[in-house]
Amino acid sequence: MAMPEMKILLTRDQISRRVAEMGAEITRDFAGQTVVMVAVLKGAAIFLSNLSRHIQLEAHFDFFGISSYRDRTRNTGEVKLTKDVDHSLEGKNVILVEDILDTGLTLTYLKDVIAAHKPQMLRVAALLDKPARRVVPVRADYVGFEIPNEFVVGYGLDYAGRYRNLSDVCILPPEMIEPEKE
Ligand code: IMP
Repeated sequence: MAMPEMKILLTRDQISRRVAEMGAEITRDFAGQTVVMVAVLKGAAIFLSNLSRHIQLEAHFDFFGISSYRDRTRNTGEVKLTKDVDHSLEGKNVILVEDILDTGLTLTYLKDVIAAHKPQMLRVAALLDKPARRVVPVRADYVGFEIPNEFVVGYGLDYAGRYRNLSDVCILPPEMIEPEKE
């Protein structure tokens, strides 16, 4: 597939080094314990698969599906659960694995959903964080990279379903963003 020219923000090597560090940190923090890694489909799938291989603990996987009522690049704030986790998170050490923290609305919603399961502990691992865009004061415990206010694709992140399979995180040029129809 021909890929358009995009500026690389984070190379695959930078990402893989940082993901390994995050895995080592989580391994230390949860030494001797079992964790449930809960990822949000579909954007966090690649991050989950790479991060989990650097976690030297008994680790289980589960998944949330959500649809955020967003236009192509902006979150409108409404989030709906389209798939709940398959197993109860009660009493578990949960690591919520997110691709990117933007306005923080999705994470705020998911933290409430997980809290209702009564986990023993909830920690959040986000590969990317755009602090400049935050509208609710929420943070991740493990952050891969703080990035500027740009729309990025690759390493699981998409624009209208495309570019998830790029190995690097790239900046989507504004001219590639289609104007919303009224
Ligand atoms: P939030 O609720 O605004 O924090 O948005 C979180 C979700 O919006 C992420 O899980 C992504 O699916 C999506 N998102 C936010 N920023 C970007 C971006 O730059 N590229 C691709 N998806 C993004």
